[in-house]
Amino acid sequence: MRLLLPEHRPSVEPEEVYLTEREPPAGRPWVLVNMVTSLDGATAVGGRSGALGSPADRRVFHLIRSLADIILVGAATVRAEGYGPPRLDDRVQEARLLRGQAPLPRLAVVTSRLDLDLGAALITESDPAPIVVTTAHAPRARRVEVARVADLVLAGQGERIDLREAVGLLGELGASVVVCEGGASLNGQLFELDLVDELCLTLAPLVAVGASNRAAHGPELDRPLGFEPASLIEADGVLLLRALRTGPPAPTGAAADAQ
Ligand SMILES: NC(=O)c1ccc[n+]([C@@H]2O[C@H](COP(=O)([O-])OP(=O)(O)OC[C@H]3O[C@@H](n4cnc5c(N)ncnc54)[C@H](OP(=O)(O)O)[C@@H]3O)[C@@H](O)[C@H]2O)c1
Repeated sequence: MRLLLPEHRPSVEPEEVYLTEREPPAGRPWVLVNMVTSLDGATAVGGRSGALGSPADRRVFHLIRSLADIILVGAATVRAEGYGPPRLDDRVQEARLLRGQAPLPRLAVVTSRLDLDLGAALITESDPAPIVVTTAHAPRARRVEVARVADLVLAGQGERIDLREAVGLLGELGASVVVCEGGASLNGQLFELDLVDELCLTLAPLVAVGASNRAAHGPELDRPLGFEPASLIEADGVLLLRALRTGPPAPTGAAADAQ
């Protein structure tokens, strides 16, 4: 792997670049969005992201997961990608323990319909159990079923989950770093609420065309958000960008109420 930014280095280990201190803003965890796209912005080929992957992307994907206290993901991505329980090497788990983290990150699935396969490995083999983020409006009987096998986090009273509240609640569960793995519609809402501190984007040297969403999908923002590149790595033609939000991130929870 070759470092292109913030300086040129012919060889770099991605750990040197990604394992940095992250200071969460007041009242909520640090939120990192990680996505892979083609050169023309596709996020899926045939409905899944796998065809955009590469050894470099997979290495950095797992490295970024190793930073997470909680991995946040939209239910459509869980359904499309067949998500299983997060797994990390023993060595990585030991490093997490030394940093004061749990050995494995918890997965938090965002869903209002609660259309999840409760017999899938994601539910039955995750230890601790996954978190399901939903609203008080979600069907009560289904909520009871899901609560038997997962930890429910209720954010908002309406049909839509209040993601600002949800992120604050993940912080109250002890998360300092939340890694959001998409999809685009979940990312779009997090950007709309200005809750994203870091964007990690893998640009695969491919053109896919098609109708898949860009890395973030939703109503156009009144003003585009500024991000500055923190690092850029190249590996076999794949570009791995880390970009940090410029300007103060929006606080949530008690810190937001105090303003
Ligand atoms: N290239 C990449 O890096 C990458 C990464 C991730 C995903 N993907 C691809 O992206 C596609 C899926 O992305 P997507 O944008 O369609 O969906 P998504 O963001 O993964 O999930 C959307 C779903 O999340 C729930 N949700 C999100 N925000 C909500 C809110 N505020 N209130 C209530 N529910 C909410 C809803 O679930 P319910 O319908 O269950 O209520 C909604 O249908 C797949 O093809 C996947 O392969 C690509």
